[in-house]
Amino acid sequence: MKAILLAGGQGSRLRPLTLNTPKPIVPIFDRPFLRYQIELLKQVAEIDEIVLSLNYQPKRIEEVFGDGSALGVRIRYVVEPQPLGTGGAIKFAAGPKPQGPVVVFNGDVLTSVDLQAVIALHRERKAQATIVLTPVDNPAAYGLVETDDDGNVRAFLEKPSADQITCDTINAGIYVIEGETLDRIPAETPYSIERGYFPSLIAQQETFVAHTYRGYWIDIGTRDKYQQVHRDIMTGGFGAPPFLEAPGTALVSPDARIEPGAIIEGPCFIDAGVVVKAGARVGPLSVIGAHCHIGEEAEVDGAVLWPHTWVDRHAKLGALVAGRHCQFGRNVQVGGTAFLGDNSVVTDFSRL
Ligand code: GDD
Ligand code: MG
Repeated sequence: MKAILLAGGQGSRLRPLTLNTPKPIVPIFDRPFLRYQIELLKQVAEIDEIVLSLNYQPKRIEEVFGDGSALGVRIRYVVEPQPLGTGGAIKFAAGPKPQGPVVVFNGDVLTSVDLQAVIALHRERKAQATIVLTPVDNPAAYGLVETDDDGNVRAFLEKPSADQITCDTINAGIYVIEGETLDRIPAETPYSIERGYFPSLIAQQETFVAHTYRGYWIDIGTRDKYQQVHRDIMTGGFGAPPFLEAPGTALVSPDARIEPGAIIEGPCFIDAGVVVKAGARVGPLSVIGAHCHIGEEAEVDGAVLWPHTWVDRHAKLGALVAGRHCQFGRNVQVGGTAFLGDNSVVTDFSRL
């Protein structure tokens, strides 16, 4: 069985991080995001091919995963001539005359849903499409999905307004769909699976069923959620690598150099090649990417720093997010709302 990962969006809500790094490969600790999804798909023996549906900066993503053999999977890349939207992208990636079930994943969701159970439900109900739902506090940013008592989907409303919110279950961005049903999607034209295909299944009374999942689920596509996923994994709120064995601890690479007199407070993550100088403090919920430098008496309190960032002495950083190769000068103070792109420079004594 084929799995299609929709990984072609521009990641506009994660700018400036996604200007040079497409969302599917933004780092979560020391690994590209999609690795978590690939590991989940790998657990389903039936899935023998993963198709990455790409549009934005496809080369960057291909360079990271290659043919998939390093992760023990088979990966193929399909690059759209223009952004085709979620539905157009699935049709394009599925190729001509697709038959039988295909698994589809939005390329920005992290979860431990039991995919095998979703596929089993799809077969048992002889469904044309099966969708994973998850409850959230505020469905407005997602696709709202109503079901009946037998788990049949009764309504699908993408990005509902406040007065349209009738339940708390949303589209988790994970589907099993029968290839034949893609014939309702026009070829090579932008088309939304959420606004077109799903409502059409309901209108035509096709068998369209839901698997409601109540475990961990997050869409990492906004700054808050991007940071939250790190916190959830560090604290053990979501059990996942690299904190699977030791949630709540300070995870320090053996190749990092922590000088005597530096203070490291867990949970936090310090990657290979990092130097933390004497008197510096790395506080809880901080993520220090590979080869960062934390100078004498500097303080990092809950920031996510991508690799190769330099924090000079006496700098104080709140729970900010900063891309690669940033420079924080000495004695700067940068608060937790800062969201800085690659190569940002904050000069000595600046306050942000
Ligand atoms: N190949 C390709 N081409 N991929 C695309 C395109 C496109 O034109 N447009 C979006 N994608 C990919 C994105 O990269 C992302 O992985 C996925 O499709 C979903 O797009 P988002 O832009 O992240 O959508 P969203 O988060 O606002 O809403 C979607 O996800 C929610 C769950 O996180 C919808 O599916 C909602 O219904 C759902 O609740
Ligand atoms: Mg999203």
